[in-house]
Amino acid sequence: MKILGIETSCDETAAAVVKDGVKILSNAVVSQIDIFAEYGGVIPEVAARSHLEVILPVIDKALFDAKCSWDDIDAIAVTHAPGLLGSLLIGTLTARTLAILHCKPLYAVHHLKSHVYANWLGVGEFENTSLRNAPSLPSSRGSIAPVVARCHKGSSERYFSNSPLFPLLALVVSGGHTQILYMRGHNRFEIIGTTRDDAVGECFDKVAKILGLPYPGGPSIAKAAMEGVDKYPLPHPNVAGLDFSFSGLKTAVLRAVQKELKLPISHPSHDLHNHLSPEQVADFAASFQKTAVEILLKKIDKALELHPEVKSIVVAGGVSANQELRKEARRKLPKELPIYFPEPTLSGDNGAMVAAAGFFEIQSGVAQTDPYKLNIYPRVSIEKEG
Ligand SMILES: Nc1ncnc2c1ncn2[C@@H]1O[C@H](COP(=O)(O)OP(=O)(O)OP(=O)(O)O)[C@@H](O)[C@H]1O
Ligand SMILES: [Mg+2]
Repeated sequence: MKILGIETSCDETAAAVVKDGVKILSNAVVSQIDIFAEYGGVIPEVAARSHLEVILPVIDKALFDAKCSWDDIDAIAVTHAPGLLGSLLIGTLTARTLAILHCKPLYAVHHLKSHVYANWLGVGEFENTSLRNAPSLPSSRGSIAPVVARCHKGSSERYFSNSPLFPLLALVVSGGHTQILYMRGHNRFEIIGTTRDDAVGECFDKVAKILGLPYPGGPSIAKAAMEGVDKYPLPHPNVAGLDFSFSGLKTAVLRAVQKELKLPISHPSHDLHNHLSPEQVADFAASFQKTAVEILLKKIDKALELHPEVKSIVVAGGVSANQELRKEARRKLPKELPIYFPEPTLSGDNGAMVAAAGFFEIQSGVAQTDPYKLNIYPRVSIEKEG
């Protein structure tokens, strides 16, 4: 079964064709990172307009790269929640229209499910040698934003037979969420831990701002941390159970920087980085990254104590690309427990994970959506999705 997945929940316009939920036939992404680097964050109206400009070429490219015509596509899966209202609207309206036009069943997918199902994606044999002739993607904003089109390539690493075993724990670490999910089986999600304030990705982004590192903050912090040492002690939040809190960690970095620079807390935070040396920036990045990773892994440890029956762990969302998190998870978590991370290119938003989630929804008996009625839900929880 070939599914076209469409993703526009935030600032990536993405479409992909995936076979049987695991094999990537194409994966086209136009990122708006270059637009928002200028502003240091996403501007929702600009994001929606950019999606509108590139969504059809992105879908065309996904079909072309997969060597598929519309006749080859069995279903369309689209992100309908959660995310930015305008961004979700562009993706869902496009999917609804295409489903009606081409008479395809339509499946509405929750964005966090998609992040989780990125862990089921094996690497497709990307045999398409005609990429040079592939339709090129227009820029999101004329000449301002150069095209960032990533196509998934590579040799096979993991196949369906090696996919995560249930019950499992899913640690979702992204720009808008930090949750521990308990999955008894496909498409059965229970939230057993969640952040009470900021998401960990958001915290990476905010700390990067304090340190004067470019947007998005996660990769910038990770890069700077490679040159630094964990020299500044930062506190762990005291949150009961499996919940998280990251706003205090961000403030702790702010206070530590002010203290290091001997500047008062009234000093404007946006100016602090002008007083930091590159060595200090690297050391703060390393100290913060280490603490953030420790906080995440401690809660996973606790979740494993409460759920000893768990057979595997999957890590999902943009922050799952973090190499320190990958290294420390493999070092600290029980060796006998398989830990899955998506291919780094599949950690962030993409259409392949939407197609994979759609496939497992279909396998779980979820009904298709009426394309005339499909709605968007900018804030709905994964549990409400069933
Ligand atoms: N290597 C990395 N280390 C740490 N954080 C990273 C890394 N790469 C990306 N991130 C962070 O991941 C986040 C983006 O992830 P993602 O695209 O999943 O978030 P989102 O789609 O905006 O939010 P959500 O998925 O919660 O709706 C950003 O906060 C970014 O800084
Ligand atoms: Mg995301």
